[in-house]
Amino acid sequence: TPLSTVKRASGPSSYNGDENVDMDWDNLGFSPVPTDFMYIMKCCRDENFIQGKLTRYANIEMSPFAGILNYGQGIFEGLKANRKEDGSLLLFRPDQHAIRMKIGAERLCMPSPSIDQFIDAAKQTAFANDRWVPPPRKGSLYIRPLLFGSGPVLGVGPAPEFMFLTYASPVGNYFKQGKAPLNLYVEEELVRAFPGGVGGVKTISNYGAVMKELLRAKSQGFSDVLYLDSVNKKYLEEVSASNIFVLKGDVISTPPTSGTILPGITRKSIIEIAHDLGYQVEERRISVNELMEADEVFCTGTAVGVASVGSVTYKGKRIEFKVGENSVCQALGSTLVGIQTGLIEDKKGWIFNI
Ligand code: COI
Repeated sequence: TPLSTVKRASGPSSYNGDENVDMDWDNLGFSPVPTDFMYIMKCCRDENFIQGKLTRYANIEMSPFAGILNYGQGIFEGLKANRKEDGSLLLFRPDQHAIRMKIGAERLCMPSPSIDQFIDAAKQTAFANDRWVPPPRKGSLYIRPLLFGSGPVLGVGPAPEFMFLTYASPVGNYFKQGKAPLNLYVEEELVRAFPGGVGGVKTISNYGAVMKELLRAKSQGFSDVLYLDSVNKKYLEEVSASNIFVLKGDVISTPPTSGTILPGITRKSIIEIAHDLGYQVEERRISVNELMEADEVFCTGTAVGVASVGSVTYKGKRIEFKVGENSVCQALGSTLVGIQTGLIEDKKGWIFNI
């Protein structure tokens, strides 16, 4: 597609099935697939972002002094576009991702794109990479907006220039094991976040911080790591890249977003869906002892989706939970996916058509 023929996002998708890409749509995982276009917008410190544009997907050039490289001044988002049966593209709650980016930008002393600029960038990126959006039910186009200090600094402080960059990649299952239930390792020593820190915003550094434990847990056969609070080492926080939910009887509980937990968009969507389906939902502190007595446990995230947890291991003790066809996790997950893919009517204003 020549750049000049890429239209702004509006109207029905241009997808007509004959611009196919060489992808095995039945075996999509979660790894980098470069697509055709990305969106870039720049601005200086103490100014606002004005105008961005689509460009060919390519490497970017940066000063070795760049704020992001030296002091981690950067945040990101992750949202999905799905293809509906009629071929059109559906974006899930981009407004909520825009708001979260604005809050994160403020915490890291960066200017932020406006809500409209963010949504427009996501739409344009999805639309321009239309041929990379998997067929219905095969996966999603994962859209990754980044906001970071691109200008040079040496003393600790905000960069003089910032870049907002949105790229996209087709994705399927986040975990290599596919949709099989997760086996979580409850971490007793290392923590992900602490009061007053940046656990509640989507900083790039939050993810570098969990890699060591993730690799260790994986080497022992676990799928992922569940972190506890840094003060008491007793209450559930979140998993490396997802929020955690616990079901006991008819009550669904999840830790509150009081600063150390990422306020997931999937998290809050599942809370609403669970309410609608008649469950009592509580946002409160959940002790690891309660976790060990739960009926069901599941994780939520844009990348992860709604993933059932088959077991947790804490202090060498492994506890198993209900999973599968008749689980609450399945009911919530299929309702969410139904809305996201247009199979279930969106009565909530969560879907943005492209
Ligand atoms: C997402 O769920 O979109 C995330 O940002 C998690 C990511 C680190 C894979």
